[in-house]
Amino acid sequence: MIEPHLPRITKAVIPAAGLGTRFLPATKATPKEMLPVVDKPAIQYVVEEAVAAGLDDVLMVTGRNKRPLEDHFDRNYELEEALSKKGDRSRLARVQESSDLATMHYVRQGDPRGLGHAVLCAAPHVGREPFAVLLGDDLIDPRDPLLARMIAVSERHGGSVVALMEVAPEQVHLYGCAAVEPTGDADVVRVTGLVEKPEPSDAPSNLAVIGRYVLDPGIFDILRKTEPGRGGEIQLTDALQQLAADEKVGGPVHGVVFQGRRYDTGDRADYLRAIVRLACEREDLGPDFRAWLRRYVTEEM
Ligand code: G1P
Repeated sequence: MIEPHLPRITKAVIPAAGLGTRFLPATKATPKEMLPVVDKPAIQYVVEEAVAAGLDDVLMVTGRNKRPLEDHFDRNYELEEALSKKGDRSRLARVQESSDLATMHYVRQGDPRGLGHAVLCAAPHVGREPFAVLLGDDLIDPRDPLLARMIAVSERHGGSVVALMEVAPEQVHLYGCAAVEPTGDADVVRVTGLVEKPEPSDAPSNLAVIGRYVLDPGIFDILRKTEPGRGGEIQLTDALQQLAADEKVGGPVHGVVFQGRRYDTGDRADYLRAIVRLACEREDLGPDFRAWLRRYVTEEM
């Protein structure tokens, strides 16, 4: 049930200022968020996910060399006219899809001082409402609606909600990691502590924070005072740890334990897996591609 005093969440913040060094040289002149997953840039899946969860006000936190992101979510009259003249209605519709998706806003991060700092850049746009943060490297399969579940949990409990996923213990050092307590709901935990990219010996669990957050605006007050942490960067995880530790400043923090399909498009091997899996499932490409893949695996590998 939605508590009447809680404002409805309408805003999504997508940090997209990273350099994409893992994909060089592809990302030398092209933002990593624009790399295609089948035939759509990775970032479009993320914006579609926000919209599917009811968040159609999207703020991207960008940096230098990110103009293609703004162009992608804007109209392209020349291209639209050329397709129109040719009578190519289906391609025209595909081109217009991204500009009709959501109300897009942009702010520049300037100095790359970390994820916490990127989120803080959203403060003037977000104001004092709860909001969602979606990291572009994490792609959540549209059939597994994680964000909608997180919003429902935040409406029920108040405070903030992070997405958690069980990972192998040797992977924990790549993520924020949560100490948790069970709640009455099987997929919801109370987060009692968070550590950014712990050594295996310091990890409180093997529950990793994946890139989806529903945040209480109190996070901004904390981020303004958060000192640089791991890697010399202002870490969102460190600010969330403070929320988890002190309910008065905007807690509690809950976690939704996700068991659906997630791809890390920031990692080259996982990026390839995402493309193969999503291509196999496409109605237009899937049948031929699956048949080829079967032959390739059995005969050529
Ligand atoms: C960021 C966060 C980390 C989180 C991860 C999810 O790290 O700092 O807590 O677990 O995203 O993808 P990054 O992958 O940007 O280094």
